[in-house]
Amino acid sequence: MKTPIIKGLLKYNDEKNIRFHMPGHKGRRIYGLGCSISEIDVTEVDGTDNLHNPKDIIKESQDKASRIYGVKKTFYSINGTTGGIYAAITAATKPGDEILIQRNCHKSVYNAMVLGRLKANYIYPEYDEENNILTTIGADKIDEILVNNEKIKAVVITYPSYFGICSDIKAIAGIVHKHNRILIVDEAHGSHLIFNDELPISAEEAKGDIIIQSTHKTLPAYTQSSMLHITSNRVGMDRMKRTMSMYQTTSPSYILMYSLDMALGYMESEGKYRFKEVLKYIDEFNKKISKLEGISIFTGGDNYQFDKTKILIRATTIGLTGNELEDILRKDYNIQLEMADLYYGLAMASVLSERGDFDKLYIALKDISEKYKNNKEKKEIKSIKYIYPEQKIPIYEAFNKDNKIVSLDKAEGKVLGDYIIPYPPGIPILVPGERITKEIIEYIKEINNAKIEILGLKNGKISII
Ligand SMILES: Cc1ncc(COP(=O)(O)O)c(C=O)c1O
Repeated sequence: MKTPIIKGLLKYNDEKNIRFHMPGHKGRRIYGLGCSISEIDVTEVDGTDNLHNPKDIIKESQDKASRIYGVKKTFYSINGTTGGIYAAITAATKPGDEILIQRNCHKSVYNAMVLGRLKANYIYPEYDEENNILTTIGADKIDEILVNNEKIKAVVITYPSYFGICSDIKAIAGIVHKHNRILIVDEAHGSHLIFNDELPISAEEAKGDIIIQSTHKTLPAYTQSSMLHITSNRVGMDRMKRTMSMYQTTSPSYILMYSLDMALGYMESEGKYRFKEVLKYIDEFNKKISKLEGISIFTGGDNYQFDKTKILIRATTIGLTGNELEDILRKDYNIQLEMADLYYGLAMASVLSERGDFDKLYIALKDISEKYKNNKEKKEIKSIKYIYPEQKIPIYEAFNKDNKIVSLDKAEGKVLGDYIIPYPPGIPILVPGERITKEIIEYIKEINNAKIEILGLKNGKISII
């Protein structure tokens, strides 16, 4: 009998890799099921409630989540943050409306615009050229855009970014609410923020109106388990309930709902204390790394908050791209990072990371520093400039037009028909309806040369309309 997925998963598990990647449980047991997975994999029967109209155990668990996060209402999403974002944007808008989105948002926000036939207005993040990293968006810029465009119904921001960068969300919420619009916060990477005061303020405390979190990314929940929180009356609760139902299967997984319940139960008991310890391990680790030659950790900038559980490791001065570093760590040291780009490897820590994980990562990086610091053939890793694409036609129109496949080199001046997305992080370089320029073609080539997987680019060809 051939069971390739099982075989692959067991092989990965057998390698005993240290997991600095999602999900937040890091492959470790917390409560232990006490039974087999099939025993809790049930359906809506007497005593198990119904996610689409919860009145009993699911309601009780969701209410507990609302209390913990200090919000009016919590919906569990077993279709990840992706499903939650579709539901949030659908609830906050009507077809044909305009929305304001952070240009480096996740592709689910773009897809929600296709589904809702929405017109995009963009706010671009700052680019820190010295550190090659996208940083914050400013409340003042949002103010300027909202003053001049009354058609914008909602603002969507990513907080924190995949790389842990946090814009001034309190100021942004103040501005969006001054203009009486809805603030949707993609807090996919921030379910843990509420559990420690040392970390940046959470979107719940800052009063985003609709907040969607991938519980599975940073807390000990199973992949695909997310939550959507409501903090205000700006969105009708009935409409939100209907749109949440629209984007979830009618057979929601009890295993995933179990895992949301479990993650919160754990954080309410020993998790909060353990998390404090993990933050100390991170500080110790960063301090030790600062003494290594050629390896550095990005710990944020002066004028914004930073989530230090996102450990951004850079080794470009000793000639290693983020991807190369990621590969070496996996092949030679059995350490798997969450992702890498041209410059950084991202080690994602969570409440279930252990001191030993950081020790092993430190020993590996020390060894890499020794091996590469005197490398005579160090290649230079160029800084790529951030690009600002131009929208020619609305994304939903472009998405629905017939596509033609052409080689990247022949696409200059044309309009893109599909997304071009380096994966991870899943943030589009270019979206349907945007113009392909020479600069963009060079940018895509640079990323491709660095062996980063790019969705929408196949054998050097892309889709145009
Ligand atoms: C910023 C951001 N938003 C949303 C998502 C989608 O989350 P999910 O995988 O839970 O659907 C991701 C996934 O990587 C993400 O990075």
